[in-house]
Amino acid sequence: MRTIKFSTPLQDKKYFDNVKRLLDSKKSLHGPGENIFKIKKELKKQFGFEHVHLTNSCTAAMEICALMLSLKKNDEVLMPSYNYNTTASSFVRTGCKIRYCDIKKENLLPSFDDFRKNVNKNTKVIIVIHMQGLCVDYLDKLKKFCLKKKIILIEDAAPALGTYLKGKSVGSYGDFATFSFHETKNYQSGIGGLLVVNNKKFRKKSDLVFDKGTDRTYVVSDPNYHKKYYSWVELGSCFRLPELNASYLQPQIKDINKVIDYRERLFKRYYENFFNWLKDEFIICNKYKHKDKYNYHAFTIILKKKEREKFLKYLKNQKIIAFISFEALHLSKMGKKWLTKNTKLKNTNEIIKKIVRLPMHNKLSIQEVDYISKKVKDYFKK
Ligand SMILES: Cc1ncc(COP(=O)(O)O)c(C=O)c1O
Repeated sequence: MRTIKFSTPLQDKKYFDNVKRLLDSKKSLHGPGENIFKIKKELKKQFGFEHVHLTNSCTAAMEICALMLSLKKNDEVLMPSYNYNTTASSFVRTGCKIRYCDIKKENLLPSFDDFRKNVNKNTKVIIVIHMQGLCVDYLDKLKKFCLKKKIILIEDAAPALGTYLKGKSVGSYGDFATFSFHETKNYQSGIGGLLVVNNKKFRKKSDLVFDKGTDRTYVVSDPNYHKKYYSWVELGSCFRLPELNASYLQPQIKDINKVIDYRERLFKRYYENFFNWLKDEFIICNKYKHKDKYNYHAFTIILKKKEREKFLKYLKNQKIIAFISFEALHLSKMGKKWLTKNTKLKNTNEIIKKIVRLPMHNKLSIQEVDYISKKVKDYFKK
């Protein structure tokens, strides 16, 4: 039996052929070119995203948000501590503060109350994380709450493209939403990302920050623009997804449902193998079937006992590579600086060392899911 990897790049002849087509055409590898334009058109058609930037990572998309918002020293950005570090560092590097909130034990997502309790007069931004591609079920309510309190809402939807809430795609609720096309995600460009700018007030500024802080986009594409040459007009950086990477991603965007359908089969098999079995040993964090469409990004379990390292080692000996998800930010060397005396992270502290993600990718077979499930059961039978 070969080693079963945790995730593998999405590969298909169609994707390779599209890259070759671009290379053979000798057109610009920088872009924006045909592939970028096609992806944007398809994202609008499938998800209703009107104003987007294809970036070189989800991190870059979050950094654009932070640069656009220009927060002050005492302004706060509220987010769960169970989170990816660049969601926090994107804001910290602009000089503002971050504050952590807790998550629910059963699905690793923050509750509405976790956010509400931690809001104060300095809160300027709330970041909701669609962890494991899952979406909280109160985005409407959170959006209204943020509007009332004049708080900007950002959806960090890094792994969540293809997940919906009440018939609307994730990423359509926040003022901004960020997605990742890193090769650990469902659809990939090696590294890559997407910024969705729903708040019309920020659209022009996002165009400038995105393009190295210049008005190049307007100079190049608007014949009526008042300037002939572009220049430095905002604080920005080089955030662009190169056309070369976009050529790999472009054919996948049409395949999104196909990718999800296959992942759903794998997820369902895991779920059936474990359902009603050894409930005392772990819980399955995400459900099958969801009320809304889910993109089946991850199969995550939460162990009842603190034995994660032993469990992962056992799986590795069985040639199965499982993963821990993340460490909580408030326990990290950098992230602990923002832990305040009244930050309560009871659930995060209790379960952070019990979270395990089992292999889930489009090259995994049903037989391998059965093998993994059997080995997991054997571990707990001992
Ligand atoms: C919730 C979350 N936010 C942000 C990121 C960063 O994505 P990227 O690697 O595209 O910068 C990740 C990566 O896994 C993530 O899971």
